[in-house]
Amino acid sequence: SAPIRIAPSILSADFSKLGEEVRAIDEAGADWIHCDVMDGHFVPNITFGPDVLKAIRPHTKKLFDVHLMIAPVDPYIEAFAKAGADLISFHVEAGAHPHRTLQAIKAQGKKAGIVLNPGTPACMVEPLLDDLDLILLMTVNPGFGGQSFIHSVVEKVGQVRALIGSRPISLEIDGGVTPETAPLVVKAGADTLVAGSAVFKGGPSAYAGNIAAIRKAA
Ligand code: DX5
Ligand code: ZN
Repeated sequence: SAPIRIAPSILSADFSKLGEEVRAIDEAGADWIHCDVMDGHFVPNITFGPDVLKAIRPHTKKLFDVHLMIAPVDPYIEAFAKAGADLISFHVEAGAHPHRTLQAIKAQGKKAGIVLNPGTPACMVEPLLDDLDLILLMTVNPGFGGQSFIHSVVEKVGQVRALIGSRPISLEIDGGVTPETAPLVVKAGADTLVAGSAVFKGGPSAYAGNIAAIRKAA
């Protein structure tokens, strides 16, 4: 099978030097850069918007995997696309018209992903499968880094992998990923792992080892 991708979440980075942090995880072996956008409305926390994304964009050439935890989504797609997002994911729970939102992302020439909260069933992706580049399954309730992995989502990883079939759709996991939990979701069919606290713990000198430990365990 294909090698596992590791996407460190900059939510756990030192926000006072985000450019350096992005450079450090790039050099430490990150495959993608996971950017968690929260609005204090869809989730009970606020992070950053397109201007911050634009500011860190020159610090790496790696893919910007932008996870929107916002509602509404559509009014902000163009701004995130122009700021340098390569892949834009949004929650199926965030609005009534997920298919329209996918079309709007594609119209910007960007890859598109759908995100499912832990309490949302696998079948929600079915009508969207032919328009998706990525499916992101949350293994925590979104809003904060450093939460515990919710084990009941592992079964849904297998269900979504089966729904994907032979389509070229990435299956990403986000929340509580560590060297202990990574093999559970990879075995169930995940190919891309987001990790925040498990990558950034110990500071910049530890990033390469932290990423390698997750990759090896997966
Ligand atoms: C949760 C975010 C995640 C989170 C991951 O709302 O979407 O990306 O920061 O952090 P850890 O790996 O610490 O659970
Ligand atoms: Zn995320």
